[in-house]
Amino acid sequence: MPKNVTSGNTGNNGNTGSGGKPRMPRRKRTLLILGSLVAGSALVIGALFTWLYTGAKVSTVGAVDFRNALAVPPLAPSTVDADGTRVFDLRMQAGETEFTPGTRTPTWGFNGSHLGPTLRAAKGEKVRVKVANTLPEESTVHWHGMHLPAAMDGGPHQTVPAGGSWAPEWTIAQPASTLWYHPHPHGATESHVQRGLAGLLLLDDAESAPLPLPKTYGTDDIPVIVQDVTFDGAKLDHGHKLMRNVGFLGDRTMVNGTLEPYVTVEDELVRLRLLNASTARVYTFGLDDGRAFRQIASDGGLLEAPHTTSRLRLSPGERAEIVVRMQPGERRILRSYPLDAGLDFWNQRFGGGDDSFDVMQLRAAATLRPSAELPAALVAPALPTGEDSARSRFFELKMSGINGRKMDMSRVDETVTRGTAETWTLRNDDGMPHNFHVHDVQFRVLDINGAAPPPSLRGPKDTVFIPSGSTVRIALRFDGPADPDTPYMYHCHLLYHEDKGMMGQFVVVDPSRPPSTPKPPPASGPHQH
Ligand code: C2O
Ligand code: CU
Ligand code: CU
Repeated sequence: MPKNVTSGNTGNNGNTGSGGKPRMPRRKRTLLILGSLVAGSALVIGALFTWLYTGAKVSTVGAVDFRNALAVPPLAPSTVDADGTRVFDLRMQAGETEFTPGTRTPTWGFNGSHLGPTLRAAKGEKVRVKVANTLPEESTVHWHGMHLPAAMDGGPHQTVPAGGSWAPEWTIAQPASTLWYHPHPHGATESHVQRGLAGLLLLDDAESAPLPLPKTYGTDDIPVIVQDVTFDGAKLDHGHKLMRNVGFLGDRTMVNGTLEPYVTVEDELVRLRLLNASTARVYTFGLDDGRAFRQIASDGGLLEAPHTTSRLRLSPGERAEIVVRMQPGERRILRSYPLDAGLDFWNQRFGGGDDSFDVMQLRAAATLRPSAELPAALVAPALPTGEDSARSRFFELKMSGINGRKMDMSRVDETVTRGTAETWTLRNDDGMPHNFHVHDVQFRVLDINGAAPPPSLRGPKDTVFIPSGSTVRIALRFDGPADPDTPYMYHCHLLYHEDKGMMGQFVVVDPSRPPSTPKPPPASGPHQH
């Protein structure tokens, strides 16, 4: 048998014109080698991609035993000062938490080792929170969704040094709502929240008090703080996996710090105050049997009327209150379904959009206390309509910075006039999902890609999801006290993005005071259209 019959480079191939060397050897061989290298690396890359792509999808559906009773954060005790100020104490501390009995996980918390107590106050009340930072590093405590003076906001300028304290005070001047608090140290918000620093802040008011809504805290009015986590042995693993440009995505969820949680329901109607306290993950909540529920509130308070739906999407930082009707003796699962937001193939998978979770089980008692029917109307939110907007601004959202600029603590990006309304246009063309949160205000979503917002987004909002390829217009009113020297923040609430600089600063100035007091924003940039 002839050898090398295919190569043709051992025999005399006739005139090659190159000193008797065989024809086309080197080039062909090079090409062959190159070709197989290319094919080989394509295979390797393909296999790697398939491995990454397949491994990127996470689901706990059907795999959760719901073995732990849901922890309900305690209501924070408070005292009332001589002048009527309600005073709370929050101590930021390091500790250990047993998420699984017998396994101690290092965590941070407020007044405990993980998460924090629920602060509760009423509209019109003056409150003071005495914050003590016993952590080994500086941090801040931000009151997310709260309308308050900039110096009390707890953003990156109000740092509390390790071992230090801070006692902001303000008067609650906004409707009943589910707000929350969390650290906001510049560049380290993601890690401080992930270690466990977060808590709820519930506001009450006289308008909502008479409404027949479930309102017994921990019984038929249940806080549901949803976070995704990954454990590496006893430790929490906060690593970002490959291709996850949204930041950290965990492989399981917990509620109020409870893994595999169940909650026993003894009333026909149960109100769930949902908070997405995850750092990057977007949830699409629904019940496992597809039943409809009623949404009664968005980020900053009640909707005008209950909205019936079977799915509710919350991006990081957003809240919603829903009311679920239970049947005696049944067990239902609050689930998070894959994201349906038109994300491209890549972002859908690597941004966690294909993931699904069994978040919490609702266990109805054999007999349920009757609940009053939900009212047909709730409280109409007082939100700007956009019609009286004094000016508009444009924000181009990119992970690399908003309007082409990374966050700079010493630069004020926007100056707004106290007492005026504005329309802000938020554009995401960045190829990845973002959201947008504005401090101090609750805004109205005017439209999304030119269309009216869905009912779930028609209430008071302080954070709005903006998938790539979309434009969201919001109307905001700045009626708080002016402070030309202390900025509020606006930013993407995917905390990795925020930490990387996807944040900007605005000050509210008095109309009578020249807006030249704060540092003016740079003249260039596409931020004012
Ligand atoms: Cu919930 Cu600026 O943050
Ligand atoms: Cu905030
Ligand atoms: Cu973002």
